Amino acid sequence: MSLQRNINKYWDYLEKKYPSPRYVGKVKCMEFKDLKKAVNNKNENYIKKLIKNMYVKKEAYIVRNSGSKKLKKTIIDLANHYKKTRKANFFKMRDGTPNFHRVIDKNITKKYNLFAIRHSFYFYNWNIRSKLEKNLKDGVYKHWRYVKCLAGNNKNQFERNIPSDNQIDRLQIIRYPAGGGELRSHVDPRKNQRIVSGLIMSKIGEDFAKGGFYFKSSRTKKKYIEKKLELGDAVLFYGSIVHGVDKVDPHEKLVWKSNKGRWFIGMFVNDSDHVRDRVTPKDVSTRTETKH
Ligand SMILES: [Fe+2]
Repeated sequence: MSLQRNINKYWDYLEKKYPSPRYVGKVKCMEFKDLKKAVNNKNENYIKKLIKNMYVKKEAYIVRNSGSKKLKKTIIDLANHYKKTRKANFFKMRDGTPNFHRVIDKNITKKYNLFAIRHSFYFYNWNIRSKLEKNLKDGVYKHWRYVKCLAGNNKNQFERNIPSDNQIDRLQIIRYPAGGGELRSHVDPRKNQRIVSGLIMSKIGEDFAKGGFYFKSSRTKKKYIEKKLELGDAVLFYGSIVHGVDKVDPHEKLVWKSNKGRWFIGMFVNDSDHVRDRVTPKDVSTRTETKH
């Protein structure tokens, strides 16, 4: 049997036997090259152990050197290019959808299930044309293909899909602006990709001073990990673990056209808008945090 089938079967077994994790356990560090080696050598025991740690022991992993440090310049150049040449806009995930960017401020965010203040730039594989877009795609997929394997999918699964295939890969460059950029506590859908990953593109203490990524470690406690994160690291975890981004430099003035703040690359297999009742992330911030 293929490695992918065995991994997928193991996930099914764990998901049936144990409840899905909600709060994070230990946050550990590993090197991306070790994950890559394990998958390429079909080291099933190594991968199963990692999966079990993520699901049953609720561990999250900081995966060092998952992306090139040069990606930071690529994404900021791309963001500047899109801001200059296209108006902020929105398109549903239907066949033919272009790449676009959107300023998600406190009014626009009401249109989403999930409360966020951020500037998002969306990229689809059928629109990758310029050198910068190619660099983004190549830089991310070097990592993403291995995350897909760990999640029980094929290395290249979904990569060439279009919206009418129902599931599509989407890359997102995100700027959490200084002046209160945030993403409230939520869980991500596990249906298409059990493992969440993203590439860290800023350094706390240099690009911004306060806020950043956290996991919930209990109903009332947050575990902040931003200080441990370096440019090019990825953070990997099972999607039902509650996580978010705390307000970035809330005392500064928010300027949408500036590039100050925290940058991040998200990668996710989405249900397209061709899917009826498509799965989306769930905001849990009021349920777990508001005291009545
Ligand atoms: Fe998320």
